[in-house]
Amino acid sequence: MDATPRRSVVGIYPGSFDPITNGHLDLIERGCRLVDRLIVAILSNAEKRPLFSVEERMDMLREVVRGRPGVEVCTFNGLLVDFAAERHANVIIRGIRAISDYEFELQMALMNRRLRPEVETVFLMAGEAYSFISSRLVKEVISLGGNITGLVPPLVARRLAERFAKKET
Ligand code: PNS
Repeated sequence: MDATPRRSVVGIYPGSFDPITNGHLDLIERGCRLVDRLIVAILSNAEKRPLFSVEERMDMLREVVRGRPGVEVCTFNGLLVDFAAERHANVIIRGIRAISDYEFELQMALMNRRLRPEVETVFLMAGEAYSFISSRLVKEVISLGGNITGLVPPLVARRLAERFAKKET
């Protein structure tokens, strides 16, 4: 029997999460089974103008993953691979919904590998039920009065409803 202790696998699941959707949540659940610890990392220096502040996104994410052992939510600035190194993470987890995602994801994965070859990117296929969901579309649908039930966790649906109610007043 091999007596070499197994190195623990620390995964990072990075993103904007503006806001978290059920597709993200599915990936967190499945990603958790592959790693010993999963760090859900919200990019805080994005150029795009988010609907929710980093603090609001972190608050929602923490609430949604509350009680899941081995999952931590935090924010990061700068290069993802530098943050991964800082946190001793060896795997970056990203979801692929459709072939259209693949091109950009591959580009990022290869750039990240060039920057830090010791950090491996793992692509998980989005669950079939979630493959059409994106934060951008969810925001568009609710802003136009559409129903987003089942697309985001109930807490997030409430926060979105509040946000768009405020925007109309
Ligand atoms: O949810 P998103 O917006 O698709 O996530 C994109 C994210 C946060 C993973 C990506 O923009 C990122 O890693 N940004 C950090 C800066 C960085 O490392 N850039 C070089 C990547 S090749």
